Amino acid sequence: MSTSSIESVLTETRSFPPPPTFSAHARVKSLAEYEQLDRRADEDPEGFWAEVASELHWSKKWDRVLDWKLPDAKWFLGGRLNVSVNCVDRHAASTRRNKAAIIFEGEPGDSRVITYGQLQREVCKAANALAALGVKAGDFVAIYMPMVPEAAVAMLACTRLGAPHTIIFGGFSAEALADRIKDAKAKVVITADGGWRRGQIVPLKDNVDRAVEGSTVEKVVVLKRCSNEVKWTSRDVWWHDVVDKASGKHEAQAFDSEHPLFSLYTSGTTGKPKGIVHTTGGYLVGATYTTKLVFDLRDEDVFWCTADIGWVTGHSYVVYGPLANGATVMMYEGAPNQPGPDRFWEIIEKWGVTVFYTAPTAIRAFMKWGDQWPAKHDLSSLRLLGSVGEPINPEAWMWYRKQIGGDRCPIVDTWWQTETGGIMISPLPGATPTKPGSATRPLPGIAADVVHKDGTPCKPNEGGFLVIKKPWPSMLRTIFGDHDRFAKTYFGEVQGCYFAGDGARKDQDGYFWIMGRVDDVINVAGHRLSTMEVESALVSHPKVAEAAVVGRPDELKGQAIVAFVTPRSGMKADDALAKELREHVATQIGALARPEEIRFADALPKTRSGKIMRRLLREVASGSTARGDTTTLEDQGVLETLAQSFAQDE
Ligand code: WT7
Repeated sequence: MSTSSIESVLTETRSFPPPPTFSAHARVKSLAEYEQLDRRADEDPEGFWAEVASELHWSKKWDRVLDWKLPDAKWFLGGRLNVSVNCVDRHAASTRRNKAAIIFEGEPGDSRVITYGQLQREVCKAANALAALGVKAGDFVAIYMPMVPEAAVAMLACTRLGAPHTIIFGGFSAEALADRIKDAKAKVVITADGGWRRGQIVPLKDNVDRAVEGSTVEKVVVLKRCSNEVKWTSRDVWWHDVVDKASGKHEAQAFDSEHPLFSLYTSGTTGKPKGIVHTTGGYLVGATYTTKLVFDLRDEDVFWCTADIGWVTGHSYVVYGPLANGATVMMYEGAPNQPGPDRFWEIIEKWGVTVFYTAPTAIRAFMKWGDQWPAKHDLSSLRLLGSVGEPINPEAWMWYRKQIGGDRCPIVDTWWQTETGGIMISPLPGATPTKPGSATRPLPGIAADVVHKDGTPCKPNEGGFLVIKKPWPSMLRTIFGDHDRFAKTYFGEVQGCYFAGDGARKDQDGYFWIMGRVDDVINVAGHRLSTMEVESALVSHPKVAEAAVVGRPDELKGQAIVAFVTPRSGMKADDALAKELREHVATQIGALARPEEIRFADALPKTRSGKIMRRLLREVASGSTARGDTTTLEDQGVLETLAQSFAQDE
C-alpha cells in the first residue's frame, strides 16, 4: 500500500466531534438531541412536518398534511401561502426591515447592500412590471441572468404572481436555452445585456435573441449590467424602463400549497433534459427547514453559498432558504480567481462572512492555487463550512478544514439533488461527529437507506442503491410534461422507494458514503450531465458517424468527459476535427459540456444487441489516472457492479 493510500484509510476512520463552543450555542446541541428529533420524525412524520411548516406564514392553514399515493405526494393540502411574502414581506414588516438581505459584490469590484425593506420595494416593482407585461399565475417565465441582485428580485417577483420560473444557467448556450424555453413554453424571458465572467462579458442578450426565434416568448426584459451593445426588437423592454418606473406597492395573492413554484432542467439518462417541478408549500418548507438546521442559521450570520442561481443550490441556498429565514445573503457575480486567486477570501474578509458553502471542485482548485492565497486574509469571521455537489475526497476535506476553517469550523458535507429540493443527508454542525468524505446521517424526517435492487437493506459497508423510503415535503412532483417518465425514473427502479441514481454504502455507525452515479449521468465539476446528451450533440455534427461518451476520474473536476468518436467515412480524424467537435459540443450545450478529450476509433465496442459497452470505454478512458486512494478504487469496483445490475433490468 502506498503512503498516500494508508493516509486516506487513516483519514477515513478519523472522526471529528463538533467543537464544544459551537455545540453550546447550536440549535441541535448533541447526537442525543439529533436522535430524539429523528425518532420523533420517524414515529409521527406528519406531526413532525406540520410543526416545521407552521414556522412559515400561511394565509390559510392546510386541512391535511399529506396525501401519498406512490409516486404522487401532495403536502399541506388546502393550505395557501405566498413565497415572496415569506421571504421578504414578513421580514420587512419586522425589526429586520433595515437589515441587509443581500450583500452584492460584482466581479469588476462594484458592490451594493440591499435591505429587506428595499428588497420588498424592488420585488413589488418587478411584480407590477411583469403583471403589466401580461404575466399571470401559471405562466412560465424563463430567467437567464448573471448573479446580480435583480436575478433574486426576478425570481421573487415571479413567485409573488404565482408564475413559475425556469432558470437557465448563464453558461448554457443559445441552443440549450432554446430547448428549455420551448419545453417550458415560456411567455417572458428575463435576461441582461451581459454578465461579467473572468473579466469578459458573457453575451446573454445575444444568446436570448437566437433562442427566442420562433418560440412562444412574447416579451424579453433586459437588465443593463455591462452596457455592451445589444440588438433590439419590438419584443424587448429594458428592466429600468418597466421595473424602475413601476409602483413599489403590490398586494400579494396567496397560492395553493401544491401550485407549481418553479421547474429546473437537469440531465437524466437520455438526451433530453428533464424539467423538475417543485411546488410552493412543500419546497419552501424544505428549503427553510434545512437552511436553519444544517447551517445553524442565526440573525447575525452572513451566509454565502457560492452556487449560481442557475442550479438548484442557488435556488435553495442563495435565495429561498436563507431569505425565508431572514438571513443576510452574500452574492458574488464572477469567477473565484478574478482578479486574483484570493477573490473569495477577500470577500469573506471584507464582509465578515460567517457561513461559507461551496463545491469540492472549487476546493480542489484552491488547493492547487496554493495556501498563500487564503493565508493573506483574515478568515476568522467564519464559523461553519459546507460542501455540496459531489463526493468530497478526504484530502480536500482536510485542507478545507485547516486552511479555510482554521481547524475551528465544523464542515457539513451535504448530499441532495435537484429532485430532492433541499439537503437530505448531512451532519448537524453542533451535533454530528464528522468523518472526512462522509455526508454522515439523514436529516430528521428523511428516511434514507442503502438497499439492494429488490429493496432489501444492505449490510454495513455493503454497496447498494441510495433510496428514500418515505415522502418528504420538498420532493419533486413531476417532470414537466412527462409524468410517466417521472414515475418510471424515480419510483420504477427500487420497489416502493424513491431512487435517483446514486450508489452508496452505510458504515458500522450508520454513516452514508456516497459513491457516485450508477446510471449514465456524469458529474463534471459538480454539474450534472448525461452521457447521451453529449453524444447527441456530437452526432449532430455532419462529420460524425457515431459517438460514445464516458466520464473518467479527474483530479480537479471529479470527472472529466472523454468522447470516443467514429468519423464518417472519408473524414480525416485529426486534431483539427477534435477541436471542431469540442467547440461544437460547447455551442450545442455550453462550455461545461466541452469534452476534455476526443479519441477517434474506427468502431465502438458493442454487445451483440448493439449496446455500447461503456464499462470497457470507461476503463480505457481512465487508463492509469485513477486517484491514489484505495477506498476510491474499491468504490469504483462496486459502482461498476451496481451500474451493471442497473443496466441489465432496463
Ligand atoms: C447529484 C445531484 C445537490 C445540489 C447540487 C447538485 C451528487 C451532490 C453530493 C455530496 C456526494 C453528491 C450526487 C447527486 N452529489 N451532493 N455531498 N456527496 N455526491 O445537484 O445537479 O441535481 O446533482 O450530485 O451524485 O445525485 P444535481
